Amino acid sequence: MTVVNVKDLQEGDVLKNDLFRGGTLVLKSGTSLTKAVISKLRQWDIPSVDIRSAQDEHHVSDENEQETNVVNNSPDSVPSVSEIKNDFFNNLLKIGQEYRYGFALNDAVDYQWLEGLFIKFMSTGKIYKLLEKLKDWDYNTYQHSFDVFILGTLFAKKLKIDDIEQFAIGCLLHDVGKLEIPKSILDKSSKLSQQEYETVKNHTIYGYKILKQQDFPEYVANLAKSHHERVEGSGYPEGLKNAEIKEEIKALAIVDVYSALMMARPYRHAYGSTVAETILLKECKMVEDYYFYTFFRMLDIFPLNAIVELTTGIHAKVIDTNDKVPFYPVLEDRYKSNRIEMPLDRSVKIKKIIRF
Ligand SMILES: [Fe+2]
Repeated sequence: MTVVNVKDLQEGDVLKNDLFRGGTLVLKSGTSLTKAVISKLRQWDIPSVDIRSAQDEHHVSDENEQETNVVNNSPDSVPSVSEIKNDFFNNLLKIGQEYRYGFALNDAVDYQWLEGLFIKFMSTGKIYKLLEKLKDWDYNTYQHSFDVFILGTLFAKKLKIDDIEQFAIGCLLHDVGKLEIPKSILDKSSKLSQQEYETVKNHTIYGYKILKQQDFPEYVANLAKSHHERVEGSGYPEGLKNAEIKEEIKALAIVDVYSALMMARPYRHAYGSTVAETILLKECKMVEDYYFYTFFRMLDIFPLNAIVELTTGIHAKVIDTNDKVPFYPVLEDRYKSNRIEMPLDRSVKIKKIIRF
């Protein structure tokens, strides 16, 4: 046995003993170290490990060799289904509250469908590895990507977008180009300089390249490239105009902005959902109203001043909202000006938006 400082490890070195981190087995004895595993050990601040010497190798039986695989949570393998389910659940616990999702994820069938997709995707080595890298590089972006995956996939279902699974993969990986953006910029708590902003904008091109290099379909890579395009031509990287922007890009753009606004950033607090919707209407202007109607209906959260029709047939205006219970807005009858109390049992709902 030889104790080797982690900075001196070589690819192909074999672990002598099981390696634990915080009580959790992270690598099994007999693991042959790859570049990725060595860099993980450095990230974990592990000072040294026991490496098998030639003599140790001699004593290892064939049977033992077969058992000495990297355990599931190592960087070189995919996690087990139960680990992915845990991840899915824990991610949702952090972000999937009703004040953000409204009633969008209120159906067990949808929950299971999304969980199934997440398991399918994370069981794919290349998607898992990219997301793990993103999680290590910038946790905010990882969380946002998961959020966009949930909301975006539900939204795509409402819009009846073709290729929904590919769209869902695009949602998960739309910001993967941030891996190429320096942490000093991603973490900056003050306003970005013009030059820094230009650097951040490049995450779209980097994302496209990363996904193409890894043989993702053009459709998925394009979601990473074009999700900051705006119908007026003011977006990036290509300044595309309305007719050039495909339906799936518009859908992702809406969810991306909504999600980003509702998450705290180093330079600002998180916005409430109805404020986020109002900003969204300005930011993504000229996307056909149909997209907004569908998105807001999916959440059951409506922006201030929206004129809506209730399931009772009454037309009303949203005159106040509460960020903690955004799906119970204060309404006023559009013609009689009296206030309408929305019953807590949801026996009356907003049926549709008439106009913003
Ligand atoms: Fe982005």
